[in-house]
Amino acid sequence: MKKIMIPAFLILAMSFVQFTFSQEKPNPYKYEIHKKVVCKNGAVASANALASEAGVNSLKQGGNAVDAAIATQLALAVVFPQAGNIGGGGFMIIHLKNGKNIAIDFREVAPGEASRDMYLDLNGNAQTHLSQDGHLAAGVPGSVAGIFAAMKYAKLPFKKLIKPAIDFAEKGFAISALEASLNNQTKNQFIKFNTTVPIFVKNDLWKEGDTLIQKDLANSLKRIRDYGEKGFYEGETAQLIVDEMKRGKGIITNNDLTNYKAIIRQPLVFDYEGSKVVTMPLSSSGGIILEQMMKMSSFENIDKMQFETPQSAQLMTEIERRAFADRAKYLGDPDFVKVPVATLVSDSYLKERLKDYEPGKAGNSKDIKEGVIPEESKETTHFDVIDKDGNAVSETTTLNGWFGCKTVVAGAGFLLNNEMDDFSVKPGVPNMFGAVGADANAIAPHKRMLSSMTPTIVLKNNKPWIIVGTPGGTTIPTSVYQTLVDLIDFHMSPEDAVDKPKFHHQWLPDVIIVEQSFDKNVLEALKKMGYAITMTKGIGRTEVIMVRHDGSIIGVGDKRGDDSVAGY
Ligand code: GLY
Repeated sequence: MKKIMIPAFLILAMSFVQFTFSQEKPNPYKYEIHKKVVCKNGAVASANALASEAGVNSLKQGGNAVDAAIATQLALAVVFPQAGNIGGGGFMIIHLKNGKNIAIDFREVAPGEASRDMYLDLNGNAQTHLSQDGHLAAGVPGSVAGIFAAMKYAKLPFKKLIKPAIDFAEKGFAISALEASLNNQTKNQFIKFNTTVPIFVKNDLWKEGDTLIQKDLANSLKRIRDYGEKGFYEGETAQLIVDEMKRGKGIITNNDLTNYKAIIRQPLVFDYEGSKVVTMPLSSSGGIILEQMMKMSSFENIDKMQFETPQSAQLMTEIERRAFADRAKYLGDPDFVKVPVATLVSDSYLKERLKDYEPGKAGNSKDIKEGVIPEESKETTHFDVIDKDGNAVSETTTLNGWFGCKTVVAGAGFLLNNEMDDFSVKPGVPNMFGAVGADANAIAPHKRMLSSMTPTIVLKNNKPWIIVGTPGGTTIPTSVYQTLVDLIDFHMSPEDAVDKPKFHHQWLPDVIIVEQSFDKNVLEALKKMGYAITMTKGIGRTEVIMVRHDGSIIGVGDKRGDDSVAGY
């Protein structure tokens, strides 16, 4: 076990060795980060060690994977406030031991007073600062409705599942170096976008090991514990949200909150190399473009290629380009626009899409004006769960940007999302991920903005084999795609599939974004083919849980963050 830092009151350690957990209750002031676990009975991989342990403890108490997912999600809302949330939304894929697959869409929706051109000035120019920060950037939150939609499949009483989250909020927990640095970096924005100074602002600088206590959030969680969904969408919490909106010129109303519904959808299921991939349908684009990318890969026999070669990197880049071009044109909330899903994922269509692919020569997206991709932010958060009976959950949840719109609901203690920026605020104008869209993803009241989240479970013989997902905005589907190709076609270990370099192409801007550790010779070969390359520090924070031939479970948390796995 390699210790990376040991302040007197906090030990954050990264374990690269095989172990099993013995402690029953996480100590929020002294905890360890584990990058890998090998175990028999169940595991949780998430962005935070306390959240993973809260999930595994619910398994030990007799809960199933759904219980553990709910406990983990609620804990993340407290201990990972930059992305874990009750003021955001997300997507959940469940595989039940009886073979049933379920998709829960708890994506935020546009408020009833939203309109197509709400972020354009009088000259028709996009005001993306309004869709990205402050009260007007917030969509109607879906996370609490998502949790209660999932409760139907859980076993334990809700009050048990929410208890760790309430305790972490009420009694506090020690923040990591990364969290301290995020709070410090965001201080000015917290001050600018709030009507009262939130708990994340301190006079001096935050440092690793400081205790973060969130009393208002604890009270909001207690209202959810006591009144269920209504404890958020109605009553005191709802009123606090609406009052906050009024103070900051936001437009979410009581009606928007009472009318919010999570939707149970049919997951997207497709065959790949003898396994079944179960993934998220619209209103996330993630599943559709994952299916497109994996099918195009198999048509080009990617399994005959190798990881990180000019050949495989070029093929995957051209596949990603084509999938993202389709995303920009066709994909949006299926309750508002007709999306030709069956065609988009059909063999004939995808074979046609590859007809102009030339090995050794860069394609281009030059007919459309380039967008700009900002340095990637890791705002969304993903976690995987498996239990001893073979139930599994893959869930991605988000506020969109780091700390969402940076606005905390005063008196309620939670951050609101800035998910309105995931709509196409104007055709061709890039959002914060540089993604462009068209009419299919235009703003309309109560519509879900297009997402890229790709929570995915791969089944072998109808049993969970790989559970995977990641944050990272538009890089999410490409990271999930590359991780699955690494595992299934390149036969890499889960650790390598998670930690080895990733790259990303999203049609516009026409550039391959590549992690700094990517092989320099391969980059030279790609440049010679005609590709523009941009380097980035890190892409995503992928979590993988995999069931091995002997039935044992291996869980891996991404080395790029504080991600941590727990199991028993
Ligand atoms: N907010 C990131 C996504 O939904 O894709």
